[in-house]
Amino acid sequence: MADFLKLVGIKKSFGGVQALKGIDLAIGQNEILCLVGENGSGKSTLIKIISGDLQPDHGELWIDGRVYKQLRPIDSINLGIRVIYQDFALFPNLTVAENIAYSQLVETNHRVVKWREIREIAEVAADKVHADFDLDELVGNLSVANQQMVAICRALTRSTRFLILDEPTSALTKKEIDHLLEVVRDLQQKGIAVMFVSHKLNEVLAIAERVAVLRDGELIATLEGDEATNERLVHLMSGTTINYSRYEQDTGQGARLLEVKGLSKRNNFQDISFSLRRGEIFGITGLLGSGRTELALALFGMEPADEGTIVIEGQEVTINSVKDAIDAGIGYVPEDRLTQGLVMKKSVGENIVAAIIERLRGQLGLVDSNKWDNTVHDWIENLDIKVAAPDVKAQTLSGGNQQRVVLGKWLASSPKVLILDNATAGIDVAAKSSIHQIIRKMARQGVGIILISDEIPEVVNNCNRIAIMRRGRIVKELETKDVTEQDVQRLVEMTEPRGKEQQMAVSSP
Ligand SMILES: Nc1ncnc2c1ncn2[C@@H]1O[C@H](COP(=O)(O)OP(=O)(O)OP(=O)(O)O)[C@@H](O)[C@H]1O
Ligand SMILES: [Mg+2]
Repeated sequence: MADFLKLVGIKKSFGGVQALKGIDLAIGQNEILCLVGENGSGKSTLIKIISGDLQPDHGELWIDGRVYKQLRPIDSINLGIRVIYQDFALFPNLTVAENIAYSQLVETNHRVVKWREIREIAEVAADKVHADFDLDELVGNLSVANQQMVAICRALTRSTRFLILDEPTSALTKKEIDHLLEVVRDLQQKGIAVMFVSHKLNEVLAIAERVAVLRDGELIATLEGDEATNERLVHLMSGTTINYSRYEQDTGQGARLLEVKGLSKRNNFQDISFSLRRGEIFGITGLLGSGRTELALALFGMEPADEGTIVIEGQEVTINSVKDAIDAGIGYVPEDRLTQGLVMKKSVGENIVAAIIERLRGQLGLVDSNKWDNTVHDWIENLDIKVAAPDVKAQTLSGGNQQRVVLGKWLASSPKVLILDNATAGIDVAAKSSIHQIIRKMARQGVGIILISDEIPEVVNNCNRIAIMRRGRIVKELETKDVTEQDVQRLVEMTEPRGKEQQMAVSSP
């Protein structure tokens, strides 16, 4: 198979950080290549060099038999290279069709944009991925999975030869991931090469023809798809092996920490009741749209519930704002670090202490700089955040390291109840496992943890009990010691019995 792209000796440094230390890698004309590596190993940097967003310090790129020392973004686009970053870079206030057709219209420099033309461009692209969204819907109203499909459609409007997806699945559920993997295989059939970056190794194993492994800026192996196994990849990425164990903690006697009774929010969730003891890790899982994130947002006061009661340590509390929640001892680690968790322009240290700054003030109201330094230092170390110094801006960290900063911020606040909402999305396998150990340790010290995740192994291995949500309700609660991952997966994907579904359709307004 002829190469589409060949990288030779690519090096890139940022200040003192050597992000890429001489990468040689070729990608075949319609090959699916996966790129894996721990947080900060250089994956996104490599992609930005291919897209022309960053210039290498050394090395060359060969494309179509031509050599480029530097590639400008426009060269990369003209060569048919398209990158879909994790934030998709869509316009929420424009329609699906306008978003899809956008770049083509800008490029051809249309003065008068014809509505019909926009539709046509969008229809052709949507057809290629068998998308089922309404072309006239505003992109801001779509699910994350559909927004991603819009981003892919937009990439496909012009002649694409190489599509790069940087962690495309971290916010998708299993069903949506399966659909995406199908789309990727389909594109390959149409002669497009694909580079797929992911921390979810089961997906990598499902789709890769070859897997390239980066470690600390070096390409340490490329494996054929059939030689790659989960253990082998983890070992290559991290240099260690991970032993998965289940969280087994008898909390039957622990004091009751949180009680939620009949919590409802119109169109989001209904009649949610559960309780949480000290030291307990309570898992909530369910498909996207099952209401789990909305429930978390209500408990954290971001989008308060309409009805129901929340009791903490025997006291009923009213949670109408984030401040109410924090005062009641609730912490929340969101999945979406970009909009909810992190101030990108502030330093890593400032972000870590953001939720506890009041507590660091001494008698005169001044921040105690020793306490500040110690807290920041402890969490950088505990979470192994890869950063040169605490005063480095959050925006220069790799995606997974940014997510660790968000975790640090809420772990530092020592809450009574900590809600983690897909909080380990985008974090590499080894770090994820050490974060699970930290969560368990906090639980053993008496914190009650609500772990929301769609990774079934994550909830089964780390929780005492699991609630499964479907259509805004808890449909099942189980003790994890009695179940397997398959049991839970089956329950999550099970659809409503037909009779019931019809009933719901009749009774809904
Ligand atoms: N603009 C920048 N300024 C300073 N350092 C940077 C910049 N961009 C990346 N780095 C550093 O380069 C290294 C590689 O980062 P990169 O984003 O490529 O990692 P990654 O493999 O994509 O990680 P993740 O899985 O967390 O997304 C990291 O140490 C990161 O902090
Ligand atoms: Mg990255």
